[in-house]
Formats: sequence, C-alpha cells, structure tokens
Amino acid sequence: MVGGVKNLWIIANFKSNKTIQEALEWVDIVGPRLERRSNVKVVVCPLILDVEEVKKAVLVGNYPLVVGSQDLSPFDTGSFTGEEPARLLKEVIDFTILGHSERRQNFGETDQMIANKVKEAKENSITALVCVQGMDTPIPPGADLIAYEPIFAIGTGQADTPQNANQVADKIKSQYDQTLPVLYGGSVTAHNAKAFLVQANLSGLLIGKASLDPDEFLNIVRLSHAA
Ligand code: PGA
Repeated sequence: MVGGVKNLWIIANFKSNKTIQEALEWVDIVGPRLERRSNVKVVVCPLILDVEEVKKAVLVGNYPLVVGSQDLSPFDTGSFTGEEPARLLKEVIDFTILGHSERRQNFGETDQMIANKVKEAKENSITALVCVQGMDTPIPPGADLIAYEPIFAIGTGQADTPQNANQVADKIKSQYDQTLPVLYGGSVTAHNAKAFLVQANLSGLLIGKASLDPDEFLNIVRLSHAA
C-alpha cells in the first residue's frame, strides 16, 4: 500500500490463443484506453510468436502495458531445442508467468524446474509471477508475485470464493513474506472481479479466458481503479 492506495496487478494470459494480427488488434483496442495509474500495473502475456510485435505496438503507442511471456526456459542459452531462454527473451519481455498448473499437468513441470525458471528470470531482471494451486505448492526463492489458482477454478466458470482466496493469500503471506503480492486466478470475469479486488490480502488478478475479449478485459481494469 502506498498512501492508503492498494497496488494492483491485472494480468492477461492469452494461453495458446490469438494470431499476431489478433493480438495486435487487442493491443490497438486496449492500449489507448488504459489510464496511466501509479498503483495499477497491467500486463499482457501473449504467445511467444506474438510477443515481439505486441511489444513494438506498445512502444509505438506508448501504452502503459507491460509485455510478458507465459513461460521461459529453465536453462541459459545453448543446446536446448525448443526452449526460450530468459537471457534472450529479456530483449522483449519484462515479466513472466511461471509454474502454471497447465504446464505442470500437461508438460510435466516439476517444482525444481520452476525454481530454475525463477532463477533464470531473476538473473535477467524479468519479474517472475509463480502460480500456486494451494498452500501445498512450494514457492521458490526469488518469486516476485504469486498467483493462487485452484485447479477446479481454471477455465471452468467456477471461481473460488473471494473470501477463501483472501484466506489462502493471507496464509501464503504469513508463511513466506507479508510483502509478497498474492493475486487470484481462475474463472475471473468482469462480473466477479471486483469482489476479489477488494479483498485485503489480494493484489490483483490473473485472467485467462476473459482477457481474450478486449472490452471485458478493459472493464476488469476499470474495476481495479475503484478497488
Ligand atoms: P481462466 O484462466 O481465467 O480462463 O480460468 C486463468 C488462468 O489459468 O490463468
């Protein structure tokens, strides 16, 4: 909190959606409508394919929009076919989502791999958001932000209750660090966003499906101004 105003993060996770053209259309709608606010950071995490063009559009438009990736390599540069190392990604991104449950479930990501990814991000000055599924998920050293994302709520239309998300955030902060920002993610929409944003221990939202629609995403960003 700065002067009684809560610092908030509103993060769009496009997952495996949007062509370069579609991502640029999103930026063209969202970018000019974002208000510059010192306490609200708005982040977009497109496909790696889209990230460079999105970054260029953000720079040309001078929009208050941080560009991030949805993952990065646990290794440095070298012989790691198919991997995107932080040392090279940092030319384009300032932020990354790490340890999303879809990566843990579908790609066998382990806590150790996620810890290595956080280390790579930190060594390259990339802000690292680590997703946890509950209190049992370990938080690696160096994580800048946490997103509490219960599996039952991801892409199901069944969000957790704001009160429970607030309690989990409280426990995470007590266990690790009171200053660690904890966000909520899982079936966030413009209809339920405000109820999460006003919770004392929550510092923002990680949004999948609802972030794909630029108007719905903008509505959620506007709700953060009143939280
Ligand atoms: P959802 O995804 O908003 O579509 O539920 C959230 C996430 O997985 O980050």
